[in-house]
Amino acid sequence: MGNINASVDLRREPALAAAGGEIAIVTVDNPPVNALKHEVRAGLAEALTRVRNDASVAAVVIACAGRTFFAGADITEFGKPPQMPGLGEVIAEVEAMPKPVVAAVHGTALGGGFELALACHFRIAAPTARLGLPEVKLGLLPGAGGTQRLPRLLGPEKALRMIVTGDPVGAAEACADGIIDEIAEGDLGAATVAFARRVVSEKRPLQRVRDRDDKLLAARADPRPFEEAAAALTRRLRGREAPAACVEAVRNAFTLPFDEGLRRESELFRKLVAGDQSKAQRHVFFAERAKVRNLPEDTRPRPIAHAAVLGAGTMGGGIAMCFANAGIPVTVIETSADLLQKGREGIAANYRATMARGGLSAEDMERRLGLMTGAVGIDAAAEADVVIEAVFEDMELKKRVFAELDRVAKPGALLATNTSTLDVDEIARATARPRDVVGTHFFSPANVMRLLEIVRGADSAPDAIATALSLARRLGKVPVVVGVCYGFVGNRMLAQRSIEAERLLLEGALPHEVEAALVEFGLPMGPFAMMDLAGLDVGCLIRKSRGEHAVIEDALCEAGRFGQKTGKGYFRYEQGSRTPIPDLEVERVIVDASARAGISRRHIGADEIVERTVLPMVNEGARILEEGIAARPGDIDVVWVYGYGWPVWRGGPMYYADRQGIAHIRDRLLHYALRSGDDSLQPAPLIERLAAEGRGFAS
Ligand code: CAA
Ligand code: NAI
Repeated sequence: MGNINASVDLRREPALAAAGGEIAIVTVDNPPVNALKHEVRAGLAEALTRVRNDASVAAVVIACAGRTFFAGADITEFGKPPQMPGLGEVIAEVEAMPKPVVAAVHGTALGGGFELALACHFRIAAPTARLGLPEVKLGLLPGAGGTQRLPRLLGPEKALRMIVTGDPVGAAEACADGIIDEIAEGDLGAATVAFARRVVSEKRPLQRVRDRDDKLLAARADPRPFEEAAAALTRRLRGREAPAACVEAVRNAFTLPFDEGLRRESELFRKLVAGDQSKAQRHVFFAERAKVRNLPEDTRPRPIAHAAVLGAGTMGGGIAMCFANAGIPVTVIETSADLLQKGREGIAANYRATMARGGLSAEDMERRLGLMTGAVGIDAAAEADVVIEAVFEDMELKKRVFAELDRVAKPGALLATNTSTLDVDEIARATARPRDVVGTHFFSPANVMRLLEIVRGADSAPDAIATALSLARRLGKVPVVVGVCYGFVGNRMLAQRSIEAERLLLEGALPHEVEAALVEFGLPMGPFAMMDLAGLDVGCLIRKSRGEHAVIEDALCEAGRFGQKTGKGYFRYEQGSRTPIPDLEVERVIVDASARAGISRRHIGADEIVERTVLPMVNEGARILEEGIAARPGDIDVVWVYGYGWPVWRGGPMYYADRQGIAHIRDRLLHYALRSGDDSLQPAPLIERLAAEGRGFAS
């Protein structure tokens, strides 16, 4: 509790004769991340007024309590009526202060928090501090002067990179670039006060970033390098409004006077914050952080110091890399020395490719490889706190492996299966400790994709789930807890989309048209390029074992077209290239299939393609919710954003459905169910109910 209000405290360091006055210290304490909510802004404004009017104060330090400096504006206030003072006003007060204001930065100074620091006359940071403007990740631009001040410190091109990528920089880089004045080794508070005293005693002039323009002169004389940098940075961000607005605002920094640039920035921010894209991105931000249901508050994760991975194939290798990347020693177990060697070579090749792209130093690669130990035989899993099984997708094999694990694993070890389709409960029952068993469904490539579906079995203990969750975060993954069913959340919805995608081909669309429509929608690739990537043979085998058929896909498999691995699938691929090229041979297979089914082919437009691929997913998502396989529509959205690259600015399929209106979704499903005669397109009961009640999934 502060002495200004509940979040803000103002105190004074005793005067030092040499310093010529007191140092006022304004400390904000608004856990967990010191978001700049209304009370914080009001408290800051009041504190600033007091110190400005107090002749005994010679300088001001702005600091935060807890784990971090301000992490930004309070995102929960966006979309609500603004409450004065706004952040812009507080920041203007800081900058206009006639005595030195020094920011003491620790943790993460993000968004509005970093912008407030930029308005201070000096900035001191802890060595571990990180500073950045991540607003673009929320579909916004920095709306409190960041687009005008940062270019004045860094030059427009470097500033633009930080603003458009949203990636923060560490203290050392920030210091080298002149964003901060000093790194404080030792106690940050004491160092900042000492710095403030020095500024006063040396009568240093106040550094107001707004008054600087030395770093803008080059771009004013020749804006081409800036425009080139802007084009390169935004090339891959098609469909997104925020990056374009960031470019416009940073350009204004060197083409317009400061106050005019600030005014334009504010206008752009207001437009974005009220727009659909930012709303969708904020939805994903909170969905990602939603608490897991049915997990008692006091559940503690079990400690994990050592891991084991069974199987060094495609997934096992990637999962082992996740551990090593996170600094966790991992034992990789195979059935023979040869297979182990092959797995290790695959991992090393993967690291070398990253190194070649400049994403990893040779030293880091060696360190990571050094964290991996290979072993033949499951006994090597005895010391592991977590064992992840990634052997072939075969129930009998998995049951045998888990029965052996039960024998060798130490008590309390988390036993996880990476199965993508099998019943986790059946696997768990192969052990005498089903409480310790969960599913951890990584997405391929496991070392890259951020989604982790954590499958909660009927008997999984709460602390087993908590352990999987905390492990996921250590591995840099975004975890979503799901229930046991065929395909879990992501692949179960994907299966419905695949059925409809094949139907589109039969009715008249061609693979590249479906791809183009979905890429235009914002997905990184469409269903056919994705199947070519994963391999058509896998799906064919699974379908065969389940007695299911997909006329076109089965025909392609029979023709040996397994996708990228054979150089041809739905598309063909030039040697060494992953670019899908339309193939007349495939067109013939499709046209024949239509003829055999007695369908007269017609042109199908992009809107229909998008609608028909998204609707079955939403319908399946509704069934998944009803069955309790996913606890919330937001969980499903997170699965699609992080597992399949659903465009974050469209918020995920369930959010998208809500925006379209559930009654509309119901009507369109009914229309397609009637037309195709496929009952699986009949609206799920949850959709019927929500539509009748005029509600959406979010409600
Ligand atoms: N506003 C409101 N709540 C926030 C918040 C914010 N800016 N940032 C984080 N939170 C909340 C989270 O929702 C979470 O709440 P629960 O505990 O209820 O789940 C809690 O703070 C902790 O967050 P994390 O779980 O993410 O904690 P972390 O330690 O893993 O990460 C962080 C901390 C790096 C600050 C991360 O939360 C983050 O990146 N936050 C967003 C930062 C951001 O985008 N700032 C810009 C805001 S927009 C802006 O500032 C506009 C402007 O220009 C005026
Ligand atoms: P893979 O065939 O590439 O690798 C499996 C490895 O397990 C092989 O190297 C094999 O030698 C090894 N193995 C077999 N029995 C073993 C045993 N008893 N002990 C130790 N190692 C053994 O298979 P992949 O693709 O890595 O799949 C593994 C699991 O991950 C499967 O359950 C699969 O369904 C699942 N999965 C696969 C995804 C993919 O895209 N490939 C995505 C998500 C999950």
